[in-house]
Amino acid sequence: MIVLGANSDISKKFTELVLQKEDIRKVYLLSSSPDKTINFRSHLKVKYNADVEIIKLNLLDPPKIDFSSMEYSLVFCASGYMGAQQEAVITNNEDNAKITAINYSNLILVLNEIAQDMERKGEGTIIGVSSVAGERGRKSNFIYGSAKAGFTAYLSGLRNYFNKKGIHVLTVKPGFMYTKMTEDLELPKALTITPEKAAKLIYRGYIKKRNVIYIAWMWKWIMLIIKSIPEFIFKRLSL
Ligand SMILES: NC(=O)c1ccc[n+]([C@@H]2O[C@H](COP(=O)([O-])OP(=O)(O)OC[C@H]3O[C@@H](n4cnc5c(N)ncnc54)[C@H](OP(=O)(O)O)[C@@H]3O)[C@@H](O)[C@H]2O)c1
Repeated sequence: MIVLGANSDISKKFTELVLQKEDIRKVYLLSSSPDKTINFRSHLKVKYNADVEIIKLNLLDPPKIDFSSMEYSLVFCASGYMGAQQEAVITNNEDNAKITAINYSNLILVLNEIAQDMERKGEGTIIGVSSVAGERGRKSNFIYGSAKAGFTAYLSGLRNYFNKKGIHVLTVKPGFMYTKMTEDLELPKALTITPEKAAKLIYRGYIKKRNVIYIAWMWKWIMLIIKSIPEFIFKRLSL
């Protein structure tokens, strides 16, 4: 399998789950911080006897990677960057460029390379972790939200493109999760789940060949309500 954003807590839990449940032993960990990935590689080697390779992938300056020589049928993409929130949204364009590159514009160029290789091989699954933030722009984080909206649309189009070509695309839309991305935020306990639980739900969606899943289920209904609020009311809300 190929994992993009290998240091994400979700990537780690999902990769371990796959190694426990599937007959997969070759793992490519794509990471912007290879040094921080070494311990995870050792863990996978010792605990699961996996053959693990670390490949540097900085989405701010993505290198050309030869995917054709790799052995994989599953791609898990958790790359993401939340960036500045609240007032900084329209004042920090350096950060905004980072948000759009990591969550969307440079990320899809790398996924396109993988998609071309998978199309040649004719099988496999791509799991992309997007966000419920992409479902409606909110004043607190609409640069991140719009990048995730683009990523969600990309995954939907890719799924459509691959229909009947032997490749499945699963879109994952998390709400709140306890990870390093959110460690400085105060999250509502009832709406926030652990990376372990998220990994299990994603694995279930993968096995069932689902197209789109929410993490967790209540976010589907929360977003349905949020999306149904008329714009003239929505624009006055503090969300
Ligand atoms: N936590 C939440 O509440 C939440 C909610 C909705 C959606 N999400 C999404 O879930 C996914 C996983 O996020 P997480 O919560 O596990 O946060 P995270 O730990 O910050 O994971 C994001 C990963 O993206 C990779 N990344 C960051 N900058 C990069 C760069 N310049 N180039 C390449 N890769 C880069 C990093 O992996 P490497 O260090 O290995 O490069 C990082 O571990 C993200 O797409 C995030 O947007 C999270």
